[in-house]
Amino acid sequence: MEFFQQAYREANGRKKPTSLREDFCGTFAVCCEWVKSDKARQALGVDLCGETLQWGRENNLSKLQSEEQKRIKLLEQDVRKRNRPMVDILAAQNFSFWLFKTRPQLLEYFKIARSNLKAGGVMVMDMMGGGDCYTEESIDKRTIKKGKRGFQYWWEQASFNPVNADASFYISFKFADGSKLKRAFEYHWRFWTIPEVRELLEEAGFSESHVYWENDDEDSDDYGTWARGTDAPSNPSWICYVVAIK
Ligand SMILES: C[S@@+](CC[C@H](N)C(=O)[O-])C[C@H]1O[C@@H](n2cnc3c(N)ncnc32)[C@H](O)[C@@H]1O
Repeated sequence: MEFFQQAYREANGRKKPTSLREDFCGTFAVCCEWVKSDKARQALGVDLCGETLQWGRENNLSKLQSEEQKRIKLLEQDVRKRNRPMVDILAAQNFSFWLFKTRPQLLEYFKIARSNLKAGGVMVMDMMGGGDCYTEESIDKRTIKKGKRGFQYWWEQASFNPVNADASFYISFKFADGSKLKRAFEYHWRFWTIPEVRELLEEAGFSESHVYWENDDEDSDDYGTWARGTDAPSNPSWICYVVAIK
């Protein structure tokens, strides 16, 4: 959320953003953080999956104060739909737009996303890449500590087809009692590159797009901050933000 504010400030100067739309919102954690951060802020979460939205209502929305809950609106619909009022920030996170696998599909989504933004509004997406991401059957295991217990999860890069850039990924879990949820989440995406995405943003009518890279120099005062850049190191695995300005 801090990053969304930075991206908006760097596009619009001092003007403060109040409205946020979270496309592919899932359990809409971003909407919840947004309305908690300021009484003037409103959020709209959009997702196709009613069951996922319901989980969010029961487990995320219910933890907010009732006044905060009233500032969140949820729409069970396709993200490729114009809605009013327009917003200051459109967040499309977790690489979700990669499920649009062709140029016409992604262009259509970007045009509609642009139409859902106010003048000067920003669309914020994350992207990943690097040579390691193309390795098939590669597994990255992580342990999450939660109180005394916690759990393990693993991110599996199952396949990558260099002919059409189709890629499949899965997330599996192992819990403290030994039980497992294998391939609980699956993602079948096109592995888009940054220049392809920026060209489509321009075609969709966005006035500018910027790539933000994270400062990973531990000796620098700016360590961990994000800045616009026109070149970046070819790390084996990276994540960046792409910000498009209406
Ligand atoms: C990768 S998940 C991201 C969820 C959330 N942003 C997060 O980070 O936890 C993708 C979400 O997009 C939703 N989705 C997929 N296609 C969609 C579409 N065309 N319109 C709206 N939602 C869609 C799925 O139901 C799923 O909740």
